[in-house]
Amino acid sequence: MDSILMRRLFGLGPEFAHRLGFSAAWLADRLIPAYLEKTYGFEDSILHQQIWGLEFPNPIGLAAGCDKNALLVPFWERLGFGHIEVGSVTVNRSAGNARPRLFRLQEDRAIINRLGLPSKGSNLVAQRLSRTSAVNMPIGISIARVEGSASAIKDYCQCMMRLLPYADYLTINISCPNTVDGKNFEAPEHLDSLLDALIDQVSGRVPVLMKLAPPDTPKVVYDSQTDAILETAVRHGVNGFVVTNTAKDRLGLVTDKESLQEIGDGGLSGPPIYPRAVQMVRYVRSCVGPDYPIIGVGGISSAEDAYQMIRAGASLLQIYTALVYEGPKLVQHMKRGLVQRLKSSGYASIESVIGTAPGIGEYADLTGLSFSPG
Ligand SMILES: Cc1cc2nc3c(=O)[nH]c(=O)nc-3n(C[C@H](O)[C@H](O)[C@H](O)COP(=O)(O)O)c2cc1C
Repeated sequence: MDSILMRRLFGLGPEFAHRLGFSAAWLADRLIPAYLEKTYGFEDSILHQQIWGLEFPNPIGLAAGCDKNALLVPFWERLGFGHIEVGSVTVNRSAGNARPRLFRLQEDRAIINRLGLPSKGSNLVAQRLSRTSAVNMPIGISIARVEGSASAIKDYCQCMMRLLPYADYLTINISCPNTVDGKNFEAPEHLDSLLDALIDQVSGRVPVLMKLAPPDTPKVVYDSQTDAILETAVRHGVNGFVVTNTAKDRLGLVTDKESLQEIGDGGLSGPPIYPRAVQMVRYVRSCVGPDYPIIGVGGISSAEDAYQMIRAGASLLQIYTALVYEGPKLVQHMKRGLVQRLKSSGYASIESVIGTAPGIGEYADLTGLSFSPG
C-alpha cells in the first residue's frame, strides 16, 4: 500500500503532495489507528534511552520542518517514532517565501526547499498541543524568528514562553539557510545576546538544544565559526545540539546543472548531505564530549546510516527527506536494522555504541577551547 501511495504522491507537485499526504495521515489516524500500530509498530528495549531526564523509546525522531504546526503528533507515534520535533514555529503567523519553494531531486533522492519558515504561529501551535492526547515519546519544539522582524530576540523569547508548557525540549533554530537575515544569530556576539535572554527565561524547566548548519565540506577540520558557536552555547548552559540543518551549496549531486539553476536557492537535504552531517556530529562530539547529547540529522536513509551516525557520536537521530522517498515503513526498518547491528556486535544497549567510531581528537585539540557542562 505504501509504494502505491508514494507513486501517486510523486506524480503531484511537492507542496500539494505534502498536504495530501498529511490529510491521508490525519484520516488514517482517526479511522484505522489499530492497523497503523500493527503495521508500523516495533519496539525493543535495547533501543530505549533516558536523556535529559526524558524517556526515548527508540532513537529515531521526526526532524523539524515536517510537522511544522503539530498537526499529526499521535500519528507519528503510531508510525513508531521515538520523538518528534514540531516547528520551526515563529511567534506570529508567517507566510514564508513565495512559491514554488519546494523541489524534489529524484535522482539524488534529495530535496531543495526555500520555504522560508512558514508557520501558523505560536498561539495556534500552543492551542493544538494543549488539545493533543498524551503520547509516550518526547515532543521537542523548534523555535525560529520571523524574517525581517526588528525585534528578533523578543520574538524568540515570546515564542518560547508560549510554547514552553507543551515542550519536552526546545530547539533554537539559528541555522535556517532560507531566510535573508535568519542566519544572523550564528555570529557569536548576536548568539550571546540571544542566549542571555532565552536561557534565563527557561531557567532549567526543559532542556534547550541548538540546531547547527552543516559545514561547507565533508571534511570538517578546525572551524572557528563552529567552535565559537559551541563555546558560546556551552557557556550559556545549552544542553545539547541538533546537527545538522540543510546545506546551502549543491555538493555531491548527480542532478544536472541546468535543473539546479532553474530551481535556484534553497537548503539541500537528503543523502548528499549525509557525509557532512556525520563528520559534523563527530566534530561536535569531539569538541563538547558526551555531556552534551547530539541529535544527528542529515541524509539518514537506512539502518546502516543510522548506526554509523550513532557511532559518530549521535545519541538520537532525526529523519525527514528519506521518509518522503522511502515511505513510513522506513522507521520500522531502521529500528529493526539497529537492533540487529547492536545485538550482532555484542552491545547490550544503544548507549554503549554512541561515539565508538574514531573521533577527531586532533581537531578538537587544535581549537584550544575547553568545554565543561554548564
Ligand atoms: C521541506 C523542509 C522544511 C524544513 N523546515 C525546517 C524547519 O522549519 N526548521 C528546522 O530546524 N529544520 C527544517 N528542515 C531541516 C530538517 O529538519 C533537517 O535538518 C534536514 O532536512 C536534513 O535532514 P534530512 O536529510 O533527513 O531531511 C526542513 C527540511 C525540509 C526538507
